Amino acid sequence: MRILVVGKGGREHAIVRALALSPQSNEIHAVPGNPGMQKEAVCHNLSTSDREGLKTLVAQKHIDLVVIGPEAELVEGLADFFRQLGVAVFGPSEAASELEASKVFAKDFMNKAGIPTAGSVVVKTVEATMSAAQAHSAPYVLKADGLAAGKGVFVCKDLDELKLAATDLFENKKLGTAGESALLEQNLDGWELSLLCLTNGESYQLLPLAQDHKRLGEGQTGPNTGGMGTVAPLNVDQALMEEIENLIVKPTVAELGRQQMVYRGVIFIGIMVTRDGPKVLEYNVRFGDPETQVVMPLLEGDWCEVLASVANGEMPITEWKPLHTACVVMAAEGYPDSPVKGVAISGDMNGSTPSSYFLHAGTDKNADKEWVTNGGRVLNSVGLGSSRQEALDNAYKQAQFVEWPGMQLRKDIGQSVP
Ligand code: AMP
Ligand code: GLY
Repeated sequence: MRILVVGKGGREHAIVRALALSPQSNEIHAVPGNPGMQKEAVCHNLSTSDREGLKTLVAQKHIDLVVIGPEAELVEGLADFFRQLGVAVFGPSEAASELEASKVFAKDFMNKAGIPTAGSVVVKTVEATMSAAQAHSAPYVLKADGLAAGKGVFVCKDLDELKLAATDLFENKKLGTAGESALLEQNLDGWELSLLCLTNGESYQLLPLAQDHKRLGEGQTGPNTGGMGTVAPLNVDQALMEEIENLIVKPTVAELGRQQMVYRGVIFIGIMVTRDGPKVLEYNVRFGDPETQVVMPLLEGDWCEVLASVANGEMPITEWKPLHTACVVMAAEGYPDSPVKGVAISGDMNGSTPSSYFLHAGTDKNADKEWVTNGGRVLNSVGLGSSRQEALDNAYKQAQFVEWPGMQLRKDIGQSVP
């Protein structure tokens, strides 16, 4: 099979690696890909807005399957574009991608389907926000409607903080059009999990549960990030799993069908497990980053067959290995606000063990062919093991193969995860 993977981060490197390990002899291409995946994929330096260039690439390389990693491209209708060329695509349509592109749309979708989620109201001005807050109590959760690369949710401890956040969105336009409207939402207390489900819009398969660590600092302190580390699977009881499936997953897939959305891909459901049961925080219309890095190695089978089957509108039966995985993100100095790029990475970038390896998220080579940092999340250190602890130990040992000035890494990944 000839496969094109769209994207350039650690998630896409995890996908490329999983496809390269397939027993089928695959030819893998990436747009644009990253320098760390060049052993496994041919990278093409094309912009995803260059539709003519993509069309030529698909024709010249006889691409059979396209796998789209990032949300921005899905929201721009890239899956529809490739489908119109007659290629099988793993990734939902532009219409279905509204589930991630608009928090207001997603909330409306959940309410129509009776899916448990925080109560909310739509607000568009500072005055409306402060007046709606009268009906809530602290902490106040304000969520920008549009795509904001993880920066659109403000959990405010009091009304002063809420006013600052609302002013930033509506008056200072800090998030541009993404912040023109927002949800003021009931705060949910509990613990979070990431559930990925393969779906063809009619049926689904659950992937093993994962947990991300979103804050930069140990002990859930510091600013929110794209995610500093993950572990999988989680150890949750059967009753909770049944609640999640019956109250959240089945109604979600049924509502996709009712709204006749073309959905062939993965839906990522961010869930808060509260005292009143599991509630949906958000939908993402793509694989999570860094959830993908820990979920992919757990498949008992061939990701190439699984992704192709979903892209063709079928639903494979998936089985999972009795393995544990951990991913520790190694981030650049200054991440998440202003990561320092171009810093030389020393050590053995090819270092790996039978139970650990690096995935590249934000690396590059400089003029002297040295590896340098080139993004916020630079490397993902992945460990496998027969227990959570063994997987974590392997991931942390792997991380020691390299270092660079200012590197940030949380040492407490997986410590308070069920
Ligand atoms: P989201 O992008 O909607 O997942 O929100 C990002 C993060 O904000 C989540 O992972 C939660 O930690 C937090 N968050 C979002 N909504 C709520 C809520 N209603 N109550 C408490 N925390 C929330
Ligand atoms: N790890 C969270 C996300 O991918 O959005």
